[in-house]
This record gives sequence, structure tokens and C-alpha cells, in this order.
Amino acid sequence: MNATVSPQQLVAAAHSARKQAYAPYSNYAVGAAVLTENGEIIPGCNVENASYGGTICAERVALTSAIAQGKRHLTAIAVVTVDGGSPCGFCRQVMVELGVDMDVYISDAAGNFRSTTVRALLPDAFGA
Ligand code: THU
Repeated sequence: MNATVSPQQLVAAAHSARKQAYAPYSNYAVGAAVLTENGEIIPGCNVENASYGGTICAERVALTSAIAQGKRHLTAIAVVTVDGGSPCGFCRQVMVELGVDMDVYISDAAGNFRSTTVRALLPDAFGA
């Protein structure tokens, strides 16, 4: 974890990002927040589509936004859902690609969270 941003602060940022979720089809709002090595926090939320396959998960929005902002060294990601849901397999693969050394904080809407890592979430991952 970055020295200047605590896990609780990153979870709080993901909680705020969740308020921006565009989830009219599932009504399952997801917020995410990525932490850079310099202590910057980049938010993401899920963005759904009437053509369901066009939906983008909150984690991938945050991760790809970080890359678009030129942030290549990512140290942690927090994910908030109503029930503390775990990141999907697609997002885990993208985490491996863009932040294999990240810590992962998985929180419910009340702020109860558990800590894990990308390597633990996707062992024996396919890579380049
Ligand atoms: N979703 C995420 O944002 N992240 C995940 O890791 C799993 C699922 C979103 C996609 C969709 O908008 C909604 O949650 C229900 O699947």
C-alpha cells in the first residue's frame, strides 16, 4: 500500500465512485478506485449498455482510465458493491495485465472490506 493513502481511504474513494454507476439494467452499482505509486487515486464505475455485451465493469474503467492518464505503476485497487461481490474473471485478467502486483480491497456498501492480491485472485494466469 502507498504510504500516503490507506486502504480505508481507497475504499472510500471507490464508495464515492460507485455513486456514478450507470447500471439501469442490472441495478447493481459498482465503484472502483485505483491507486498509483505516487498516491494518486483514479475512480471507475460500471457503465452498462442496452446491448448487454457493451457493459464495462467498474474495475476496467478505473484501470484503463489510469493508463489513459499515463499512470503505469499501479499499487492497489478497491472495489465496492452492495454485498462485497468479488471481481469478475475478465477484470482479474485485466488486473494481471495492468497491475499484477496490486493489492485488492473488496468492500460492501457498509465499508466492511477484505484484502487480497491480484496474484491470489488469478493464480497461474495467462500472460504475454
Ligand atoms: N460488474 C462490475 O462492475 N465489476 C465486476 O467485477 C463484476 C460485475 C458490473 C457489470 C454489470 O454492470 C453489473 O456489475 C452486473 O453484472
